[in-house]
Amino acid sequence: MANPFDLILRNAQVFTPSGLIEADLAASGGKTAALLPRGAGDAAEIIDGTGLVVLPGVIDTQVHFREPGLEHKEDLASGSLAAVLGGVTAVFEMPNTKPNTDSAEALADKLARAKGRMWCDHAFYVGATAANADHLDELEMLPGACGIKVFMGASTGDLLVSDDDTLARVLAHGHRRVAIHAEDEYRMQDRMGLRVPGDPASHPVWRDDTSALLATQRVVRLARLSGRRIHVLHVTTPAELEFLKDHRDIASIELTPQHLTLAGEEAYPRLGSHAQMNPPIRSGAHRDGLWHWLDQGVADVIGSDHAPHTLEEKAKAYPDSPSGMPGVQTLLPLLLDHLHHGRLSLQRLVDLTSAGAQRLFGLVNKGRIAPGYDADWTVVDLKRQWTVEQSWLASRAGWSPFTGMTLTGRPVGTIVRGNVVMWEAEVRGTAMGALIRFQETLRAG
Ligand code: DOR
Repeated sequence: MANPFDLILRNAQVFTPSGLIEADLAASGGKTAALLPRGAGDAAEIIDGTGLVVLPGVIDTQVHFREPGLEHKEDLASGSLAAVLGGVTAVFEMPNTKPNTDSAEALADKLARAKGRMWCDHAFYVGATAANADHLDELEMLPGACGIKVFMGASTGDLLVSDDDTLARVLAHGHRRVAIHAEDEYRMQDRMGLRVPGDPASHPVWRDDTSALLATQRVVRLARLSGRRIHVLHVTTPAELEFLKDHRDIASIELTPQHLTLAGEEAYPRLGSHAQMNPPIRSGAHRDGLWHWLDQGVADVIGSDHAPHTLEEKAKAYPDSPSGMPGVQTLLPLLLDHLHHGRLSLQRLVDLTSAGAQRLFGLVNKGRIAPGYDADWTVVDLKRQWTVEQSWLASRAGWSPFTGMTLTGRPVGTIVRGNVVMWEAEVRGTAMGALIRFQETLRAG
């Protein structure tokens, strides 16, 4: 037959810009090629998607994959394997590795390591420091860079820009959206004595709401002065969202599945240091407040903040236990379960997991299913009930705060630029993840 497609996914419903439609979906040369009438066309590979829904590939805009230097926790291969098993087709990876990704050389090293070893498409953040602040305009334009990341409060690693003068210099150099970890280092230094040895439930007492709100207010003020767009990562307090809603021209917002799912009152007694992360898991009232603002449309993306640490490291007594939990593989499953329980619509889920990232970061050819866009498809079964098992998890961390949880809705297939890399929890083919391209650096790249 003339001009067969590379791949056709038959009999599924497809989430397009027009909403959910009945169509067979074809890919060729890595791109979505056509929405076909049922049974039309021919292809080298045909998959049956009866009963399934195809979403635009899920983009996780915050993961820590730990390579180089901390590969005992994770590496680019294991982290991206976890991603595709969870239905994620592209990730933005964080710079607090060893060494930090804070120079052109360190970024080039990450790109070289990623090549042929990552299962999903990828881009890397460059970490801001006092030393590189004046050069960030060049660094943010390098191929493979998704932008600049600032830690206003100390977390895992030593990246830190705590003072307004340095932060203003960071914001003055460059033009792309800057990602911010907003916790106020000075307030947290003052409150260190509030940490109770052996009790991770004191983590949100130490790193309190005000620490988060203060930092968010400070960075918004500075962003406005410099006319720079910012992206406030993992927002944990309703107060920040109420504040940020009045600054939507310059500030975008990320929420995480874990802050939308866990409540401190039950999470710390049950999970101990496995619930410890920065910014912290807070109360049930905080969690409900995040849902309130999400319902109002005040959130742009959901990122997992996948931050693996080993069981041995997590077994140290608080506060020596490191902060962070794995999550790239459970991001979509948790959201599908929230969808099943009526907490968000499919349309909102797609906006938060793919279209939102495209809108904020100007990803080239990603974020929707339409001819000409990359054939990044996340295939899900919205009705399947299942339990998160340890044996399903690929992260080197070897645990998840969500094991044992019974969920409704499951990723069934992950298709990256027309390559079926996961189907029914089996990984297929080779690690062919490629660099994400961005509209703002098309010329440079
Ligand atoms: O809990 C966290 N862990 N928050 C961060 O900001 C960093 C992350 C990590 O890298 O472990």
